[in-house]
Amino acid sequence: MSQIQAFVFDLDGVITDTAKFHFIAWQKLAQRLGFDIDHEFNERLKGVGRMDSLNLILQHGGVILTDEQKDKEAAQKNDEYVELIADMSAADLLPGAREALESVRGAGLKTALASASKNAPAILARLGISDLFDTVVDANLVVNGKPDPEIFLKAAAQLGVSPNACIGVEDAVAGVQSIKNAGMYAIGIGDARVLTRADAVIDGLHQFDVNRFIVKD
Ligand code: BG6
Ligand code: MG
Repeated sequence: MSQIQAFVFDLDGVITDTAKFHFIAWQKLAQRLGFDIDHEFNERLKGVGRMDSLNLILQHGGVILTDEQKDKEAAQKNDEYVELIADMSAADLLPGAREALESVRGAGLKTALASASKNAPAILARLGISDLFDTVVDANLVVNGKPDPEIFLKAAAQLGVSPNACIGVEDAVAGVQSIKNAGMYAIGIGDARVLTRADAVIDGLHQFDVNRFIVKD
């Protein structure tokens, strides 16, 4: 690990748990189309962008839609999701999330967000942590979803920090791959048997210790 200057955090599953809200809205969509999705299937949608998630769901239900119908369904799902997250607050921060961000800042390092969600800036505002990020890259600003490195590389560029001086933090397999493809050190959040490409794995940000990752003079 070279001298670390910044941490780039994923949002969903790292800082807050929005998967439960996505699940409710996707489940409604599936039911409109005449089938069901379960929690096990929902796991496959973590870290996957909106249209890619819709395509996986349609494939799962054996339903074929035109591009126009897909846009309409995705928009309706998002309207429902936006309603579900309207009541989010600081109480929805995962344990240790605020403390982790503050400890990175306190150590004199920069923070960025790299989220596949177009709703990321609104969620940060609801959580009351927008001011803890030096820069935010969401799905509106990139062409290629994770595991492509684009989102993490863009975060590093916006911070003005070389990727190899950044540490990425992710809960999804595709997210960890995106970090590694960007040439960063990867902290996985979850199960080490699943996040096999991560350089270190912790259960959650409550176990995050910035001192473990920085070199002191
Ligand atoms: C990711 C979530 O962060 O964002 C996915 O893990 C979600 O489940 C994706 O589909 C896109 O989110 P949004 O808010 O742009 O529909
Ligand atoms: Mg995630």
